[in-house]
Amino acid sequence: MYHLVVYLHILGAILSIGPFFVLFPLLKRMANEKNIHTLKGYVDSFHLAIQVVKHAGHFLIVFGLLAMWFGHYPWHTPWIACTFILLISSVVYLANAFKPTMRTFNTPQFNQQTFVKKLRRAVYIYVILLLIMLWLMVAKPMFW
Ligand code: HEM
Repeated sequence: MYHLVVYLHILGAILSIGPFFVLFPLLKRMANEKNIHTLKGYVDSFHLAIQVVKHAGHFLIVFGLLAMWFGHYPWHTPWIACTFILLISSVVYLANAFKPTMRTFNTPQFNQQTFVKKLRRAVYIYVILLLIMLWLMVAKPMFW
């Protein structure tokens, strides 16, 4: 049972990080696209990828908590506590970074280059946060 839980937890991690690597080439196309309809298609795909990451993130957390339960890890285990702090920051960050920018599409304030620049920055920071969490999970550092 424990192995199945950890397996599903790792599957959640793959699904949470994976879509971001599709987003980099997509952002490049978004920056250069002149046709507004094609651009809208890219923006919709971007939105869809963010939705996948969001749901995969929930899945990842549920199985992470179950892995903690089955593995008898207390919540104050250093690498778990640090992951929690980073996770909460990235959830807050994801909501604040993507939503307001995405909403500017097709409004008078919309500026294609600023829009893509903001999204790219948000993607980079989010990927870095996820990679730090991945390191915490694999190395399991005992900070205290
Ligand atoms: C709510 C947050 C999380 C909790 C409570 C949690 C908990 C756990 C636990 C208890 C294990 C099993 C460790 C073991 O017995 O070997 C584990 C493994 C793992 N977690 Fe998480 N996790 C969380 C978030 C994450 C995130 C955000 C990622 C990826 C970005 C991740 C990736 C992994 C990986 C790859 C493993 C396997 C590591 C190994 O077995 O060496 N986890 N997690």
